[in-house]
Amino acid sequence: MTVDPDLPRPEVVEGEAGVQLASELIRAGGLVAFPTETVYGLGADATNPEAVARIFAAKGRPTDHPLIVHLGEASLIEAWADVVPPEAHLLADAFWPGPLTMLLWRSPKAPDAVTGGRDTVGLRVPDHPLALQLLDAVGDGVAAPSANRFGRVSPTTAADVVADLGDDVDLVLDGGPCRVGVESTIVDLTGEAPVVLRPGGVGLDRLADVLGREPDLHRGPAPQRSARAPGMLAAHYAPRATVVVTDEVSVASVAADLVSRGEGRVGVLAPRVTDGLAADVIELEPAGSPEEYARLLYSRLRQADRLRIAWLVCVPPAAKGVGVAVRDRLGRAAAAGTA
Ligand code: TXA
Ligand code: MG
Repeated sequence: MTVDPDLPRPEVVEGEAGVQLASELIRAGGLVAFPTETVYGLGADATNPEAVARIFAAKGRPTDHPLIVHLGEASLIEAWADVVPPEAHLLADAFWPGPLTMLLWRSPKAPDAVTGGRDTVGLRVPDHPLALQLLDAVGDGVAAPSANRFGRVSPTTAADVVADLGDDVDLVLDGGPCRVGVESTIVDLTGEAPVVLRPGGVGLDRLADVLGREPDLHRGPAPQRSARAPGMLAAHYAPRATVVVTDEVSVASVAADLVSRGEGRVGVLAPRVTDGLAADVIELEPAGSPEEYARLLYSRLRQADRLRIAWLVCVPPAAKGVGVAVRDRLGRAAAAGTA
């Protein structure tokens, strides 16, 4: 990975050694990037509006975009949410700690700075040992978006965080590469029926098993959705390369076509090795199963940028489990290129 050697660097601490320092910094109003099983988060004390404001400044994110409050244990849900419907308990029992965020009516404890002035709050207990130790040491909610600059893909390693945020973060807690690789599934439990606002690490099939019915998936072009989940703009999840989504049958000809246009380097990302690719096409290492594709997606997109690929032709994984989330992110990245 290439990091500008002149860029001021934050302190990066590995493993448990950093947890104590990280928790002290957060309690003192600092910003700490920490690993979760999905992506790295940029954390601050969720009860401290000034600390939360620093998150928005560091990311360059509009302040009306609400943040997820990360909790060390499910019992804290009662403190942060006003109404906890039975589905919330069912989902917490089934998936926490894990890649599921629930939107619930907020309690007075959730500041406007975190909710973007909304009446709801997003809550999640992440499944990463260092995140849980950190949350335990902080003792309360930690507000954290993904630890990338606004509009960039989420970081899945500590090095990605450093490359994106430089020393705008006080400390980076390094817990190695993220296991899931795409963000949490967001379920809105404030309506009559559960609605999935963002597919993510928990597959829709598993949610349906626990809820006893298919949750609705809030589909549609991103801008109209902005009122519901304001972070879901098409420009999110986009690398610098223009992403083109196609299928296994067409990928070689789509790539050859782009090469012949002479408008920059062409790369391919697919679940399997692609036969018959033109010599000039850069084939990124195939991403395998939907789980592996999810785990590698953002690092492949970043790799494409480092290789100065102008066009990245992607064959999505099967729409099973976390594959739905990968397809969603690829679709958004492709839409960003045409917006
Ligand atoms: O896996 C994840 O969810 C990661 C890790 C760090 O936990 N976090 C993450 O946060 O992806 P962020 O801020 O990049 O995306 C959270 C999304 C945004 O689209 C935001 O608008 C939405 O959740 N969100 C959070 N609270 C909300 C609320 N009260 N109402 C509507 N949308 C909310
Ligand atoms: Mg994000």
